[in-house]
Amino acid sequence: MAGDKIMMALDIGSSWVRAVIGSITREGTVMVDSICERPSEGVRAGAIVNIEQTLKSINSVITEAELQAGTEVQQLIIGIGGNHIEGIPSQGVVGINAKDQEIKREDIFRSLEVARAFELPLDREILHTLVQDFRVDGRDGIKDPIDMLGHRLESRVLVVTGSSSICQNERKCIQRSGFQVQRMVVQQIADAESVLSIEEKEMGTVLINIGGGITNMVVYANGAPVFVGGVNLGGAHVTNDIAFILNKPKVIAEQVKCDFGNCHIPSVGEDESILIPQIGGLPSIRMPKKELSKVIEPRMAEIFSMLQVELEKKQIRGSFGGGVVLVGGGALLSGATELASEIFRLPARIGFPEALHGLDRTFINPKYTTVLGLIMHEAKRLREIMPGTGQRQDSSKHQGGIGKKIKGFFKTIF
Ligand SMILES: Nc1ncnc2c1ncn2[C@@H]1O[C@H](COP(=O)(O)OP(=O)(O)OP(=O)(O)O)[C@@H](O)[C@H]1O
Ligand SMILES: [Mg+2]
Repeated sequence: MAGDKIMMALDIGSSWVRAVIGSITREGTVMVDSICERPSEGVRAGAIVNIEQTLKSINSVITEAELQAGTEVQQLIIGIGGNHIEGIPSQGVVGINAKDQEIKREDIFRSLEVARAFELPLDREILHTLVQDFRVDGRDGIKDPIDMLGHRLESRVLVVTGSSSICQNERKCIQRSGFQVQRMVVQQIADAESVLSIEEKEMGTVLINIGGGITNMVVYANGAPVFVGGVNLGGAHVTNDIAFILNKPKVIAEQVKCDFGNCHIPSVGEDESILIPQIGGLPSIRMPKKELSKVIEPRMAEIFSMLQVELEKKQIRGSFGGGVVLVGGGALLSGATELASEIFRLPARIGFPEALHGLDRTFINPKYTTVLGLIMHEAKRLREIMPGTGQRQDSSKHQGGIGKKIKGFFKTIF
């Protein structure tokens, strides 16, 4: 690890707190040095509701990650998600002052500052300013205007904002645990970093992370994010429904869901039956598998439909050649791709995080998408600003893009 830059990411989820310690070599390769998880306490719908409880989970997972990696870390990259995350489209127009009319990085910087300069409600803060494209003298769809000639530069961006109080609580919790927040990254953006290829972003893709208490969504079109949002419903609500309808404790409902659950009723045969375990040593009860699906499908359909309504409201339409990609623990529920495909009327697949150096295969699982994406997001940022780190030598998947040329602007842009 000599000469490498060490990074630590923490995903404080509603069900699990996950940590990754990784390093980026001088050549720009990302290595995973440790990855671990602990059940999450004190987090509801992606937001911390009990700092003391959350502190315990955080300290435990960080200690384990440090032990595994054999290193100590002071700064953390943390994720934030949930229905309070909102993407607001904005534009920033500036005149090109240079005599030769050549667009410089400073002009891009100015246009982004203008795009960000709108009045925000008191309880909102800007988390990212994501570039969609640029317009030079009325010409649309320019991805990289540096060195072009023009009189008027317009940047089109998605300004991603979140609730200040939810963000502050998370920062406070990290500080109370004795660490510093190096960066706060929206989970949806981290997810995309981990599972979407450049081609999928270009073709248009809907990426959905079904967690325990929240379901996050980000939509890419023409290579850039056009929508970021989410709903405060997730796999835990499915488990609660099963527990309520079957009148069983949550642990049994969770086991039944993971072992036999299917959220797409037509995929389950009429003659299929399952055994529901009982507590206190009582014999298991047999029931038709379709009956269980009838409990699960409505909740999952509600989640997907709410997301689809959000897209309609924001008028996010067009062709999504990359279809729907599902990640998060909830994506492991059988029938999830079939149901998503029916509701969004698009092909759907499960997304797996990119295989990074040093990452055991067992972690190439949709559950670890966000925490690995946080490390990858930071590595991408470092590649842009650190002299001497190669451009993506470990993967061809995410190369290119606007960021390559506007080095040094990352702090503002992301
Ligand atoms: N094999 C499986 N089948 C069905 N559901 C599963 C399976 N494995 C995990 N889940 C569900 O995934 C959910 C947890 O997902 P995940 O670990 O991504 O959540 P989280 O990141 O802790 O929470 P959040 O993102 O909501 O803050 C739980 O509701 C769990 O029941
Ligand atoms: Mg999550």
